[in-house]
Amino acid sequence: MEKREQIYEGKAKKVFATDDPELLIVEYKDDATAFNGLKKGTITGKGVINNRVTNHMMRMLEKEGVPTHYVEEISERETIVKKVSIVPLEVIVRNISAGSFSKRYGVEEGIVFDEPTIEFSYKNDDLGDPLINSYHAVALKLATREEIERIKELTFRVNAFMKEYLLGLGIKLVDFKLEFGKTADGTIVLADEISPDTCRFWDSKTNEKLDKDRFRRDLGGVEDAYHEIEKRLMGD
Ligand code: TMP
Repeated sequence: MEKREQIYEGKAKKVFATDDPELLIVEYKDDATAFNGLKKGTITGKGVINNRVTNHMMRMLEKEGVPTHYVEEISERETIVKKVSIVPLEVIVRNISAGSFSKRYGVEEGIVFDEPTIEFSYKNDDLGDPLINSYHAVALKLATREEIERIKELTFRVNAFMKEYLLGLGIKLVDFKLEFGKTADGTIVLADEISPDTCRFWDSKTNEKLDKDRFRRDLGGVEDAYHEIEKRLMGD
């Protein structure tokens, strides 16, 4: 596998072409942003942790029958993935109230829901990733109705698996964001990352935040929280 030209640089990752037209290499950075890039910083070692944690989750989800873009981890920060066209929707699941849900509806954080919720944001930095419903997503041709149904089904399966798995490690899965892609043959696969950047993880005993909220909210102990998640999931 030969790494070729950079084809994209996002806030937390770079994407490179390879000599195989169906494969890409993603490279995880230590850069951290919040509030649509308004807040910028570095979380030392984050790229290494997010690469390892994401791949660990993707491998387990594949075993659970969830198709993903994951192919092979090739270095501390780099992973080979299938080339997909990303469906421009951020798919957010919530098990416990927090973040923008608490703000929007004026409720405290920490309310445990009877059932998980799902919502979509339109992935568009210029518009600030606005909340969107499935009818509007279909109207804008971001995905078909069938694709959205498939994405919902896969997302709830991911939630059920991850919630149970993480609870066994003393972690409450409060909420998280997924992205999906479409392969050349039209198959919907889980893409992007699953990491402390994209999930809210609370210690199950103390409710201590073990995720990017420590950076967003200037709580300190950011690197320690990322290391703690890596340790609980993968050992030392
Ligand atoms: P929210 O409460 O700010 O809407 O965030 C819900 C979840 O989505 C939380 O686990 C963090 C994750 N998230 C992202 O991965 N990327 C984003 O740009 C935002 C706003 C949230």
